[in-house]
Amino acid sequence: MSQAIAPLIDPFARAISYLRVSVTDRCDFRCVYCMSENMTFLPKSDLLTLEELDRLCSTFVGMGVQKLRITGGEPLVRKGIMTFFRAMSRHLASGALKELTLTTNGSQLGKYATELVDCGVRRINVSLDTLDEKKFAEVTRWGRLPQVLEGITAAKAAGLRIKINAVALKGFNEDEQFSLTDWCAREGHDLTWIEVMPMGDLGNEDRLDQYWSLRDLRASYAERFTLTDLAERSGGPARYVRLEETGQKIGFITPMTHNFCESCNRVRLTCTGELFMCLGQEDMADLRAPLRASPDNAALESAIRAAISRKPKGHDFDYSRQKVAGQMTRHMSHTGG
Ligand code: GTP
Ligand code: 5AD
Ligand code: SF4
Repeated sequence: MSQAIAPLIDPFARAISYLRVSVTDRCDFRCVYCMSENMTFLPKSDLLTLEELDRLCSTFVGMGVQKLRITGGEPLVRKGIMTFFRAMSRHLASGALKELTLTTNGSQLGKYATELVDCGVRRINVSLDTLDEKKFAEVTRWGRLPQVLEGITAAKAAGLRIKINAVALKGFNEDEQFSLTDWCAREGHDLTWIEVMPMGDLGNEDRLDQYWSLRDLRASYAERFTLTDLAERSGGPARYVRLEETGQKIGFITPMTHNFCESCNRVRLTCTGELFMCLGQEDMADLRAPLRASPDNAALESAIRAAISRKPKGHDFDYSRQKVAGQMTRHMSHTGG
């Protein structure tokens, strides 16, 4: 369908090849840095149908998107989601898409891991901040660690490569830096640490108190290991080092201490068809209206191009001067991180 359509290039000459698609704002967990305890979710009637999501994603693929990451909320709680993965796998088969993947909390992997592999998914990112059952229940509010560990085991058994995402939280998982690292080494998972970003009005959760700079975390790795910076990229914002003594790969996502925006290659689609050009800015474009206005894709494609032409240079998150700046009012679950 896509002969010679011009690729998506933003005003800073960045090619947009990575689309993150949040298929639901719902989740079976309530992580403290992501959601408030009493979230109001979108009425189901506001959601794009799976067919509409297919049309939207396929249009992006036709415009040069090569990596599709399905997110949420928790993507695997969306009803019928495997139909959507199955549909997207046709773009892998055609060669248009290089990677189909997801970021998940792991709770439903026991149920879906095999089918995901069957749809062409090869590696997944699983959010896991702690291996302590009590702390896990505390940070996710509603989550149960054994269920997630079973999910991860099922994913590994199904042949999926796993990257663990841990949000670095001061006074919470600082003491687990090495136990989490060792566990990942034993299990053969990659591990990426993420600096906590100021998203959502989360009431009394104080971002500054929770903020654990990855500079410090890296320094404490350096006390025990020889670190080698790797040039290798996974397509996202993570930068990797190898721990020479174990050969393990550790990623760092550092929106706060090191701005990686200059190499940003991605945009985010929400489950209602909003396109966010940056995780850390409020601007968005509504793609649902042009999608529904006509079965022809011309209006949709021009809305996408118009949106990309507004992609900002970067976010304004900042914790310096002892206060939080650049805070977003929307929750992380709105755009799926
Ligand atoms: P890989 O394909 O493994 O590189 O994954 P990824 O890092 O692109 O995706 P993942 O869903 O695992 O994201 C990990 C974290 O990175 C999440 O907390 C995201 O919010 C954050 N992240 C991803 N892209 C951006 C970005 O453009 N800006 C900021 N500030 N954070 C981002
Ligand atoms: N700051 C950093 N990372 C966050 N995530 C959710 N909320 C935040 C936040 N405020 C992470 C999750 C998941 C990924 C999609 O985003 O842990 O790994
Ligand atoms: Fe759910 Fe992920 Fe948000 Fe936790 S971080 S509440 S698992 S969407």
